[in-house]
Amino acid sequence: MTGTIIEVEGLYHHYGDVAAVNGISFSVIEGEIFSFLGPNGAGKSTAINILITLLRIQQGMATVAGYNVQTDPQKVRNSIGIVFQDVTLDRDMTCREILEFHGRLYRMPSAERKQRIDELLTLVQLDAKRDVRTKHLSGGMKRRLEIARGLMTRPKVLFLDEPTIGLDPQTRMRMWDYIKAVNEEGTTIFLTTHYMDEADHLSDRISIIDHGRIIVTGTPYELKNTLGEDLIYLETDDLPGTRAALLAMDQVKELNEKSRGIVAMLNGDGTKILPQIIENLAGRRIRVNVANLKKPSMDDVFLHFTGRELRDEGAEKASSAVIRAGRR
Ligand SMILES: Nc1ncnc2c1ncn2[C@@H]1O[C@H](COP(=O)(O)OP(=O)(O)OP(=O)(O)O)[C@@H](O)[C@H]1O
Ligand SMILES: [Mg+2]
Repeated sequence: MTGTIIEVEGLYHHYGDVAAVNGISFSVIEGEIFSFLGPNGAGKSTAINILITLLRIQQGMATVAGYNVQTDPQKVRNSIGIVFQDVTLDRDMTCREILEFHGRLYRMPSAERKQRIDELLTLVQLDAKRDVRTKHLSGGMKRRLEIARGLMTRPKVLFLDEPTIGLDPQTRMRMWDYIKAVNEEGTTIFLTTHYMDEADHLSDRISIIDHGRIIVTGTPYELKNTLGEDLIYLETDDLPGTRAALLAMDQVKELNEKSRGIVAMLNGDGTKILPQIIENLAGRRIRVNVANLKKPSMDDVFLHFTGRELRDEGAEKASSAVIRAGRR
C-alpha cells in the first residue's frame, strides 16, 4: 500500500515584497524520490524550510508523515531527516562523533545508537574515516556524512536540499548511487536541485519550480514526452526561410531558435521526418549545413515550460525564443 507522505496545499511565503513561494500545491507519494527542479531563487529552499518546520507557515497547509507542520512540528521533526544546502558539520568532530551527538540529541538508546552508526558508516562508505575530523574530509565525503546523520533516526522522509551542489561530476554520480540506496531501504526522498541530469536520473517524479510556482509535475518520461517524440536541430544558410518552412509542416509541434540554428520538436519519428524536412527545404533552395536528431532532454523540458534555459545561471532574460507552431 502506498499513500501520500507529504501534502501541500496553497502554500505562500513572502519575505517582504518577495514572493519566494507563491501558491504551491503538491503531494509526495510514500517511497518515491521526488524532486523540486528549479533555478537559483526559485523558492526551493524556502519551501523545504517550511516543510521541515524551520520557517513558519504564512499561508496554506502542509502535512509531513501525517502530521500538520504548523500544529504538530515536533512530530514532523521526529519523522524526518534533513541535509541542508550548506554544509553544517562541526569541523573538529570526527565522523563517529557527529553521528553519536545526533543520536544523543534524539535520545536514541546507546546500543541502538552504536549499531546505527556502524550501519550508516557502511552505507555511505565512510567506515575507514570514522575517527577522522570532518575538516579533513573531501566535499563528497562531507555530503555523505550529512546524509548518514540525516538517517540516524530512521526517518520516514529524508529532505536533501541541493545534495550535490559544488561536487565534481564523478562524485555527484556516486552521490546519486547513495541516494538511491537510501531510497531502496524504504526512505522517501524529497530533494531540490538545479541540475537537470540529477533530477532526470534520480527522480520518480519532478516538479519544475520557477518564481515560487510549480510550472509542471510529472515523471521524467512524462515531462520529456510532452515535447514530442524527437527533436531536430538544424543549421541552414537561411534561418528565416527555414523557420517558415518548418512552421508549415504538420509534423512540427514547436520551434525553438538558437543563435546559429533552430530546434524543431516533432510529432512523430524523427528518423522519418528529418529526410522530409531536408527535401522540403531543398525545394525552397535552402541548404542544410548541420542536422542533429535527438530525444528530448530535461534541459529541453525546462526551456519548453519556462521559456529559458536553466544552465544560464541566474539568467532572467529569455535566452532563446520559443515559437509555437499554429495549428491549422
Ligand atoms: N531570509 C531571506 N530573506 C529575504 N529574502 C529571502 C530569504 N531567503 C530567500 N529569499 C529570497 O526568496 C527567493 C527564494 O529563495 P530560495 O532560497 O528559496 O530559492 P532557491 O530555489 O533555494 O535558490 P538556490 O537554488 O539559489 O538555493 C529569492 O528571491 C531569495 O532572494
Ligand atoms: Mg536553495
